[in-house]
Amino acid sequence: MAPKWRELADRLAAQIRRGDFAPGQQLPHIRDLVAAGEGSKSTVHAAYKALEAEGLVTSSRGHGTSVRPQAPARPVRLVSDQVVLREFTLDDVADVLAIIGNDTVTTWLSFDSRDRAQAVTMIEGTIKRAQQEPRSEFYLGVTKHDDNRVIGFARMGLSGVQAGKLGYAIAAQEWGRGYATDAARTLVTYAFKELGLHRVTAAIGPDNSASIAVVQQLGFTREGVLRDHVFANGSWRDSILYSVLEHEWQA
Ligand SMILES: CC(C)(COP(=O)(O)OP(=O)(O)OC[C@H]1O[C@@H](n2cnc3c(N)ncnc32)[C@H](O)[C@@H]1OP(=O)(O)O)[C@@H](O)C(=O)NCCC(=O)NCCS
Repeated sequence: MAPKWRELADRLAAQIRRGDFAPGQQLPHIRDLVAAGEGSKSTVHAAYKALEAEGLVTSSRGHGTSVRPQAPARPVRLVSDQVVLREFTLDDVADVLAIIGNDTVTTWLSFDSRDRAQAVTMIEGTIKRAQQEPRSEFYLGVTKHDDNRVIGFARMGLSGVQAGKLGYAIAAQEWGRGYATDAARTLVTYAFKELGLHRVTAAIGPDNSASIAVVQQLGFTREGVLRDHVFANGSWRDSILYSVLEHEWQA
């Protein structure tokens, strides 16, 4: 007969594979399973260790044991109402340069306008980081449905425990058509539902009304001011930090 911890581990593994627990969701606290009659503390602990060894859960000190998010499908391609978010290729250099080489756009970003060589380096970097395992950056090109040309980008950088930083930009001639809101909504939904994140933040310049409108529309909460957060265009500037938590997300 299998030891009690093995039986418990097998039962929990079946539940995880069946999808009873969402990616990133915490397993019950050990003391709750002990109280529910699943065995002693060491039995439950051994079962959790077995699940960790099998790659089904991750355990982090002080944050309990949670279901490991499954490796996301690659290449990532997210289709929403208005736009498609897709991986970059080196064919996108000219379109990307039209965005990150335009002062009208970059004056709001955390870097100065870039030239063609820098646009190539940026795209090469996103392609390389997209291959990393585990992947910690989802830097995607934004296109319209019927046109593969990149009109913007949206980025989710994973950092900390189940947390991500959101960024985006849209080519100036396409502003005001809802593309950023749609792209950000789609990427945040992906981050919560597929990547198992718990918290997403966006750091926005205090004068960037358009970007503040985007996150407010999506239900983010203003947390406070990050002082001298960004050095760009020759000077330091503050950022306002906005966040949304997984259980608040209603998009
Ligand atoms: C911020 C940015 C991505 C928005 O892109 P967009 O596709 O025009 O955004 P949307 O059309 O989805 O929404 C823009 C919202 O801002 C509002 N807005 C636009 N310009 C504004 C302004 N000057 N003041 C106040 N609100 C403004 C729009 O009315 C809209 O809100 P609404 O839907 O409630 O009407 C775009 O302006 C941009 O690329 N800016 C430069 C880069 C940048 O700032 N990136 C974000 C860094 S945190």
